[in-house]
Amino acid sequence: MEDIFGPGLLKGRVALVTGGGTGIGLSTATLLSTLGAHVVLAGRREDVVRDAADNIVAQGNAASSVQLDVRDYEQVAATIAGIVKDQGGLDILVNNAAGNFRCATEELSPNGWRTVVDIDLHGTFNCTRAAFDALSASPYTGRVVSIITSYGWSGWPGCAPAAAAKAGIQSLMRTLAVEWGDRNILCNSVAPGAIGDTEGAKRIHDDVGRGDHELSRVPVGRYGERDDIAAAVAYLVSPAGRYVNGTDLVVDGGRQFSFGTA
Ligand code: HXC
Repeated sequence: MEDIFGPGLLKGRVALVTGGGTGIGLSTATLLSTLGAHVVLAGRREDVVRDAADNIVAQGNAASSVQLDVRDYEQVAATIAGIVKDQGGLDILVNNAAGNFRCATEELSPNGWRTVVDIDLHGTFNCTRAAFDALSASPYTGRVVSIITSYGWSGWPGCAPAAAAKAGIQSLMRTLAVEWGDRNILCNSVAPGAIGDTEGAKRIHDDVGRGDHELSRVPVGRYGERDDIAAAVAYLVSPAGRYVNGTDLVVDGGRQFSFGTA
């Protein structure tokens, strides 16, 4: 993917990717680093984000890691203050950390609901709110990109808390696009479809025998790749995305419009 974009496209930027140790977060962090950004990988499992950052550094790019639970605002604020102190600023925030599981709503406990909404929606608020000052001071125009899903607007039977949380994130990005448009920050969302080699596709589709069904809904006939999402994020945070604000960039092979034949 890095060959598609110009080398050094993101030179000088500092990027924080939550949930950066695995899956879409890791692919995004890796691509941003190959384009010249210093990436900070944040995640709950310290060893996972540390190993991922070490791999990026071993490839000759700039990365560091931090243990972080996005549900804890004080921890998030301290993490961002530390990044600004160590790296001189923060230019890009990718809200990627998410939790999800398949559960019929009538069987879901209040704590199960709260846990997913806490990670996805409240976690995104926490990071975005805490990053405001740093992003607003970015010489490149601060960027927030939040990972959502088109199931946020279609509804998502079996995954009600994730659907509601992602819809909330989409709304938050639209609101902040207006509130912060004149504060030197652009806020957008990226909505992946079914992306292979991710924990989400594994637990929500494949492990429960819904892989074939999900695939049948994708007009282009295949799952997406993690790099497809990384590329969408790279576009939005690059100079090419400088006038894109408040959009939902759907990267799903056309799945959102696949209702079957009439
Ligand atoms: C029903 C469940 C459950 C399940 C947990 N709970 N898993 N309920 N079915 N499968 C309930 C628990 O019983 C508990 O409620 C509450 O949720 C909190 O569970 P904990 O395990 O204590 O929470 P925690 O350790 O904080 O873990 C959070 C988590 C976990 C979301 C439950 O799965 C996690 O860490 N996930 C991170 C990785 C992840 O989900 N990746 C996929 C994201 S993909 P009670 O009432 O018993 O106390 C994504 C997009 C998918 O978001 C796209 C699809 C292709």
